[in-house]
Amino acid sequence: MADNTRALMEELLAEMEERRKRILAGGGPERVKKQHESGKMTARERINYLLDEGSFVELQPFAEHPESELMRGVHAPADGVVTGYGQINGRLVFVFSQDFTVLGGSLGKTHGQKIARLMDMAAKVGAPIIGLNDSAGARIQEGVDSLSGYGEVFYRNAIYSGVVPQISAILGPCAGGAVYSPAITDFVLMSKGISYMFITGPEVIKSVTREEVSFEELGGSAVHTTKSGVAHLECEGDQGVLDTIKKLLTYLPQNARETPPPRPTQDPKSRKTPELLELVHPDPRRPYSMHQIIQTIVDDGEFLELQPNFAKNILIGFAHLGGQSVGIVANNPRFMAGALDINASDKAARFIRTCDSFNIPILTLVDVTGFLPGVAQEHQGIIRHGAKMLYAYAEATVPKITLITRKSYGGAYLAMNSRDMGADVVLAWPTGAVAVMGAEGAANIIYRKEIQSSPDPVATRQAKIAEYKKAFDNPYVAASRGYIDDVIDPSETRYLLIRHFAMLAHKQEERPYKKHGNIPL
Ligand code: HXC
Repeated sequence: MADNTRALMEELLAEMEERRKRILAGGGPERVKKQHESGKMTARERINYLLDEGSFVELQPFAEHPESELMRGVHAPADGVVTGYGQINGRLVFVFSQDFTVLGGSLGKTHGQKIARLMDMAAKVGAPIIGLNDSAGARIQEGVDSLSGYGEVFYRNAIYSGVVPQISAILGPCAGGAVYSPAITDFVLMSKGISYMFITGPEVIKSVTREEVSFEELGGSAVHTTKSGVAHLECEGDQGVLDTIKKLLTYLPQNARETPPPRPTQDPKSRKTPELLELVHPDPRRPYSMHQIIQTIVDDGEFLELQPNFAKNILIGFAHLGGQSVGIVANNPRFMAGALDINASDKAARFIRTCDSFNIPILTLVDVTGFLPGVAQEHQGIIRHGAKMLYAYAEATVPKITLITRKSYGGAYLAMNSRDMGADVVLAWPTGAVAVMGAEGAANIIYRKEIQSSPDPVATRQAKIAEYKKAFDNPYVAASRGYIDDVIDPSETRYLLIRHFAMLAHKQEERPYKKHGNIPL
């Protein structure tokens, strides 16, 4: 009798393929068409675009929802989320991609468990987790089970925070409590004009507060990248977001035990930067472009700025210096004279902690007059928020270099990674100045009596300001006390920063035992 093993196997394979085909079809051609018409790729198209060609390996495609009463007989391919791993530029990443064509990408128990399992695996092997969010939120038919599914994901977002990089792409709806998964992750990127995030939608808001607002006005990418600070970047469509994720990964290590991969460059380490001699005028009232300084210093002029339109008084972002990834925090004299306010403090503190979590050295460029004065700032808690920056810098054990480009005054001087707050190397340009406050304010306070009793108060005041400036408004007093390691020629900036970072590459710094610190949130 002929052995029919092969024939039976082929039958089973055909059944498997048939099942898989139905899963790969997602919510079917109509819903896929609708997805494309809304300017979105499907969940699987996104994965294929994001990952190196042919590298995706899917996990749990046959997962099914638990057939709760309202879900009986409902076919939900892959339970509305495609999960698996693959490579980006040859590096391992884990991806989940919610399928809006399947029950609106809503999250039920199995959907949540699939993501949770993926996250467990990513944490075990030490590779980034990328979430492609496009979901109508909790799967209403599954009731409390869907909340449990979310709970499983949120819990892991928190416990794997600082273990592996977590990146969230918001490519469609992200509403209700669902927003808290991306919010816990390290980076949130939104597609412009298509995605939105909010806790309660326009309808609920209308019924509760009578406010009328559109989806876009309430939680579109413009709102979250300018007003709320929830998102780091808005990009053109799915492709823009996915391209930016690929770029972002070039600055990040695989996990907290590794350092970011070096990036080869043709840009010479010893390149002089004479352009910088023409940028910064010693008069502190003359603004200049901190962006231009950054672009001049870093490899190939490439700076991936994060949150560019939120709290514009401080700049944060990634670049490479001599092939090494660095996080940059810089005051922006073009906006609010670079003063630190609540949002700037939050923005910088969070970024400093992100860098420290993932062994990315920090370069701080300083030109700051102080914390922003004002009743509103005080009442909204500038003390509490500003404290985050001080805390974050002190807590960070990565190599930390500070360059003072012009003024650095008062508490803000300390908050911008001063020597005493833990900077490894502090440099200043000759235009730099470290003081308790600006010369005008200082003269008014310490020479008040002399000015008032003088026959010519205006002239005396000017003379005292000049006297104070000469004595203190320069980098040399701070350098003489050791608060500044060196005053440097701006045209040597790139070369010296690369030298100093190379010297610090193997820096080890221990902290006293603690369960965890208690940053003033
Ligand atoms: C199950 C859902 C669903 C949901 C939509 N669908 N929302 N299925 N649970 N929450 C289904 C629809 O029935 C439809 O199925 C398909 O998804 C696409 O939905 P449409 O409404 O046709 O799409 P669209 O017009 O683009 O509108 C998208 C939407 C809208 C704005 C997101 O669907 C919507 O408002 N949904 C409800 C959102 C919501 O309230 N979610 C719960 C939030 S509370 P068919 O079969 O027709 O294709 C929450 C709490 C989380 O999430 C708590 C975590 C702690």
